Amino acid sequence: MTLIDRYAVFGCPIRHSKSPRIHQMFAEQTGQLLQYNAQEVPSEQFPAAVARFFAEGGKGLNCTVPLKELAWAYADKKTERAHTAKAVNTLALQADGSILGDNTDGIGLVTDLMSNHGISLAGSRILILGAGGASRGIIAPLLEQSPQAIVIANRTVDKAINLAAEFHYKGPITGCGFSDLKNQCVDLILNATSTSLSGQLPPLPEALLAKNGVCYDLAYSNEPTVFVRWGLVNYALKSLDGLGMLVEQAAEAFFIWRGIRPKTRPVIELLNAERKI
Ligand code: ATR
Repeated sequence: MTLIDRYAVFGCPIRHSKSPRIHQMFAEQTGQLLQYNAQEVPSEQFPAAVARFFAEGGKGLNCTVPLKELAWAYADKKTERAHTAKAVNTLALQADGSILGDNTDGIGLVTDLMSNHGISLAGSRILILGAGGASRGIIAPLLEQSPQAIVIANRTVDKAINLAAEFHYKGPITGCGFSDLKNQCVDLILNATSTSLSGQLPPLPEALLAKNGVCYDLAYSNEPTVFVRWGLVNYALKSLDGLGMLVEQAAEAFFIWRGIRPKTRPVIELLNAERKI
């Protein structure tokens, strides 16, 4: 009997996850035999559910909201980027039976911005909205692209200042509140708040985005998010959501598990065509 390697994404809620389809497409494209399911796992059940999954022969897991910090704590070993992000979205069973934790969100975002959309980050002024887990995961990979400066703006100002201070050793980064954005002008705005999920928008001044600036919402939805719409009415050259990042972070996880890099473009194109934006 041939046992199919099993993978899964854990999250709560998880019903609308596109990850099973994405990984199935990667598997077909690369000729890999595997199974990938979505499983709703509340935080309090996370450690037991992960232990069961690997005890029953599972090979790798993706973890999404609200489980990334718990996955970080669970992993026996962590990659440097996961260690820095203090969040893990990919768990991989190692040959010695230990569980490696990695974070592919940041590289997924940077790849989508640079490779898929041709956006240059070197020398650019970047604004990150939000100072929660989603922001934490993308800061180091963005700083590695040598931007002119990164500003984190957050409703709770102290969180932005503290988060910036944590990454200051890696490059030019500061934290502030939304009201401090009044006279600023930036080339790229990344929405890493959870506001899109509730259809809200942080208060942003009108002249914030430079000519030919780009807006990018880390969230994705079948309809343009409120932030994507804000970018469009504020003359963004491009106003994008996080579907490309989702596919790119999945491709990086697939590579960690299978040692083979799937092509992302056909998958992104198919998912985009399906939602008909
Ligand atoms: P995640 O892991 O998705 O980042 P989180 O850690 O709960 O989730 O962080 C959510 C982020 O969205 C925070 O930066 C939060 O701001 P606060 O730190 O002030 O709570 C931000 N956020 C949520 N609702 C918001 C709103 N209505 N307006 C502005 N920011 C909001």
